[in-house]
Amino acid sequence: MSDEKLSNLLHEERTFEPPAALAASANVTADVYDRAAADPQEFWAEAARRLDWGTPFTEVLDWSNPPFAKWFADGKLNVAHNCVDRHVEAGHGDRVAFHFVGEPGDTRTITYADLKDEVCQAANALTELGVKSGDRVAIYMPMIPETIVAMLACARLGAPHTVVFGGFSSDALASRVTDCGAEVVITSDGGYRRGAPSALKPAVDEALQKADGVRSVLVVRRTGEEVAWTEGRDVWWHDVVGSASTEHKAEMFDAEHPLYVMYTSGTTGKPKGILHTSAGYLTQVAYTFWATFDHKEDDVFWCTADVGWVTGHSYAAYGPTAAGATQVLYEGTPDSPHKGRWWEIIAEYGVTIFYTAPTAIRTFMKWGREIPDEHDLSSLRVLGSVGESINPEAYTWYREVIGGDRTPIVDTWWQTETGAHMITPLPGVTAGKPGSAMVAFPGIAAEVVDDQGEPVGNGEGGFLVITKPWPAMLRTIWGDDDRYVDTYWSRFKSQGYYFAGDGAKKDEDGHIWLLGRVDDVMNVSGHRLSTTEIESALVSHPKVAEAAVVGASDPTTGQAPCAFVILRENAGDGGDDIVEELRKHVAKEIGAIAKPRQVMIVPELPKTRSGKIMRRLLRDVAENREVGDVTTLADSSIMDMISKGMTGTKE
Ligand code: PRX
Repeated sequence: MSDEKLSNLLHEERTFEPPAALAASANVTADVYDRAAADPQEFWAEAARRLDWGTPFTEVLDWSNPPFAKWFADGKLNVAHNCVDRHVEAGHGDRVAFHFVGEPGDTRTITYADLKDEVCQAANALTELGVKSGDRVAIYMPMIPETIVAMLACARLGAPHTVVFGGFSSDALASRVTDCGAEVVITSDGGYRRGAPSALKPAVDEALQKADGVRSVLVVRRTGEEVAWTEGRDVWWHDVVGSASTEHKAEMFDAEHPLYVMYTSGTTGKPKGILHTSAGYLTQVAYTFWATFDHKEDDVFWCTADVGWVTGHSYAAYGPTAAGATQVLYEGTPDSPHKGRWWEIIAEYGVTIFYTAPTAIRTFMKWGREIPDEHDLSSLRVLGSVGESINPEAYTWYREVIGGDRTPIVDTWWQTETGAHMITPLPGVTAGKPGSAMVAFPGIAAEVVDDQGEPVGNGEGGFLVITKPWPAMLRTIWGDDDRYVDTYWSRFKSQGYYFAGDGAKKDEDGHIWLLGRVDDVMNVSGHRLSTTEIESALVSHPKVAEAAVVGASDPTTGQAPCAFVILRENAGDGGDDIVEELRKHVAKEIGAIAKPRQVMIVPELPKTRSGKIMRRLLRDVAENREVGDVTTLADSSIMDMISKGMTGTKE
């Protein structure tokens, strides 16, 4: 990367000012930026005081041992109390916390009082199963209310959870359970996807043959499908949670008590367990939720992200509940049973704030505006985007077709590691430019720097860094402090900057545009996947000798994995179905999201003299191919071409 300059590619002239009515009643106003910049610690301390504390903090930030931060360290609170009980105590027990919509059409309305009862019951049941503060619990669930209840119950007990996306395979689950040493797994028989039950429990059974240390599996009945049962280990949620008391006293934990571990891809094959702790995280997710979305009491918020990703943690499970918001929780896919399902839900529940990913917007664009046009979307007032840069066409379509040209769009840049929004417009304050995440959130110090760590000028590109600690920052990589330091803090060590892995540019006005990852991490449908991880999965197949994977741009998913594979000699040509066989193998090893769009069987891979695979050249090949082309290279002419192109390239 170091010899490649990130160039200033996009020229976008349109600007959308905040709507006057929204600006007039916005939760935060323009002065917030100066106030936060003048004293960021006091700004975050004020945000933290919006929470309920068992013991108020007197210290704000302890940065005496960088990069290991402590925020509000001498305070104590309970995260679940803040997300649930305090709203009931304030007289809002009847307020709807979740409008749950199951894919088959079943619905449930859960008020804050209901949520409190269920979280207390689940906390009591987990205690019965021996879960204590500090014990890890893995959660492998569909998007149903019990998933949020389970997370909040763990938080209530001070038992860090690790939610594993239900689309991940049993192997991925096993490695995460092992890495964080989970003792209990919470799962369900399955969930509904595309009109049919999709099982989860069998993957847990398979995972637990590989991962030791799990003594209990708590199983929610969702689909009613038959499941295998291990006596003494497996228990039904409705048996133990359903019969538990709704009374549970929330213990206060240290501000820095671990809240959860979320695994994410890095440049090596081994996923990183990103550790988030309690008070700083909750402060920033609650405050950003309130400010970025301009949340008001009567809003209905819907974040479409699965709770298996960080977006579902910060902007479904924790941020909105901490703010006492009413949310929609939808189990299924956007096209089941028809392609207007999301818009039907928005109309039915009067959703006012909608948060989704560019990949979804591009899919809807492909399906055509006639579909959303059939639904009344006039309740919407703020739209959000997350996961990757939103291309200006998608932005404009989102604003016009979904937002009726009324709604501001907040393009929120952040990461699993940052825990909460970092760069985003504020809908009542900052104008929006299609494709730009605009400015750092108040109290966040972001900069675009060159190779030497010097800020670039307006109109120039470089590396996006965060120059000061922030409350929701990751505290470490679970069990691997060295990797934490190496991965995030070594690139600009002398300056002490957090390097996020993204390239960015500042435009002529100093606004920030994200330019994608600068490492071997690809972004598929707004989710990070490491090339190495997919390569390792391919190489674990007995017919594969070597594999190189690149993320090629894809009109729908942003990027898509494309694999170049050298077969072992004894595999011959691999057989007719080799491409499909390898794609399925990756899906089994990691999950369907990592399935390569194309697998090209090649005789050689382009390498530098020192043996490094030149992914840049492979990416050229992958991107120049028409989608739907033959995926197996019949001859090596393309690779020959690449080889010629390599002559004279520097290592
Ligand atoms: O490359 C950036 C991209 O997604 C990465 C973080 O991925 P993950 O940890 O899975 O979290 C996704 C949801 C927060 C970033 O390093 N990214 C995320 N949001 C944006 C983005 N790129 C451009 N614009 C965004 N709004």
